Amino acid sequence: MATQRSENPTELKEEKIAIIGSGLIGRSWAMLFASGGYLVSLFDTDSRQVRDAMTNIQQQLTMLSERGLGRGSLSADIQFSRIKASTSLLEAVNNAVYIQECVPERKELKRAVLLEIDAAMTSTAILASSTSAMMPSLLSDHLTNKDRFIVAHPINPPFYVPVVEIVPAPWTADHVTTTTSEIMDAIAQVPVVFFKEVDGFSVGRIQFAILSVAYDLIKNDICDVDAIEVAMTEGLGMWYAFYGPFEVEHLNADGFLDLCNKYGEAVYRVQKTFAAPEKMEGPTAERMREQLELFCPLDKLQKKRQWRDERLAALSRLVRDLDKEEATPSGDN
Ligand SMILES: NC(=O)c1ccc[n+]([C@@H]2O[C@H](COP(=O)([O-])OP(=O)(O)OC[C@H]3O[C@@H](n4cnc5c(N)ncnc54)[C@H](O)[C@@H]3O)[C@@H](O)[C@H]2O)c1
Repeated sequence: MATQRSENPTELKEEKIAIIGSGLIGRSWAMLFASGGYLVSLFDTDSRQVRDAMTNIQQQLTMLSERGLGRGSLSADIQFSRIKASTSLLEAVNNAVYIQECVPERKELKRAVLLEIDAAMTSTAILASSTSAMMPSLLSDHLTNKDRFIVAHPINPPFYVPVVEIVPAPWTADHVTTTTSEIMDAIAQVPVVFFKEVDGFSVGRIQFAILSVAYDLIKNDICDVDAIEVAMTEGLGMWYAFYGPFEVEHLNADGFLDLCNKYGEAVYRVQKTFAAPEKMEGPTAERMREQLELFCPLDKLQKKRQWRDERLAALSRLVRDLDKEEATPSGDN
C-alpha cells in the first residue's frame, strides 16, 4: 500500500498561506508550502525569531538543493522568494486561503491566538492547528469560523517525514477536511484523514503504545534499551517504511483472515499479558536515560538530529525511486 508521490513540475500558485509562529514547525511548514509553489507569509510575535527563521530557511533550502534533496521542481532561490516575513498577524492572515497555526503547545495561548486569527481571516479561509496532542474541539469551540477549523498535525521533522494527520472537530465542515487534504497533496505531504477526533490522533497513540510495552519490558528486566532499539530498527522498522501493521500480517499468511485463524489466538494471549500503562519516571526512567546517553550523549544530540535528517532524507529518496520504478510500464506491481 505504498503512497505514490507526484513527480510533476511544480506550478507557481497565486494563493497565499499564512504561518503563525516561526519556530521549529512553523519554518518547516513555510519551506514545504514554498516548495509546493505557494506564497507564504510568516509571522511571529518575536521578531528575532522570524529573522532567524528566514536565515535558517534560506540556508536549509540551499543545502537541500545542493544535495539533491529538495522538494518539487522549483529552485531554492525561487522557493525562498515565495516566503515573506510579516510584521503583524493581521498582515499575514489578510487574504490567506489557508492558515497554519504553529505557536507553543499551551492551551490558553493557542485558544487566544486562534481567536485573533478567527477575527482576521477571510470568509472562505481554512484555519489549521499544528497541535501535537490537543483535541480540535478543545481548541476551537469559541471560534466564529469553527466550521473552518481543523488540526493538521505534522510529524517531526516534517520536511523528511511526510505524513500529516488531518483531524476534524465535530463541527468542521466536510469540504474543509477535503480541501486541507488536497493542499497537503499539493505540497507532497501525505495526509491521513480521521473521521472524528481522538486523543493522541494515530501516530501518537501507536508510538505511546509501543513506549508502554517497551517500558514494561525494561522495568521487569526482560531486556535493555539497546535490545528494544535493535528490535525496532532491524525488525519492525524495516517493514514500516514500506507497509503498515495490517499489511504486515496480511502478507505473513494467506491474507489477513488466514493470519487471524492461524495466529489470532497467540496474538490475543500475548496482548492479555500487557501491563496497564505507567508514567515513565523513577528508577526505570533513570536506567533508560543512562543507557540512552551511552550511545547518544546529550552534547551530541544536535549532531544526531542531523544524522537522523540525512538518514530520513535518504530513505525517502529510496522510497521515491522505488515508487518511480514500479510506476514504469515494465513494473509488475
Ligand atoms: N516540535 C515538534 O516535534 C512538533 C511536531 C509536531 C507538531 N508540533 C506542534 O507544533 C506547534 C509549534 O511547535 P514548535 O516545536 O515549532 O514550537 P517552537 O517553540 O519552536 O515555536 C513556537 C513559535 O511560536 C512563537 N509564538 C509564541 N506566541 C506567539 C503568538 N502569540 N503569535 C505568533 N507566534 C507566537 C514563538 O515565538 C516561537 O517562535 C506546537 O503546537 C507543537 O506541539 C511540534
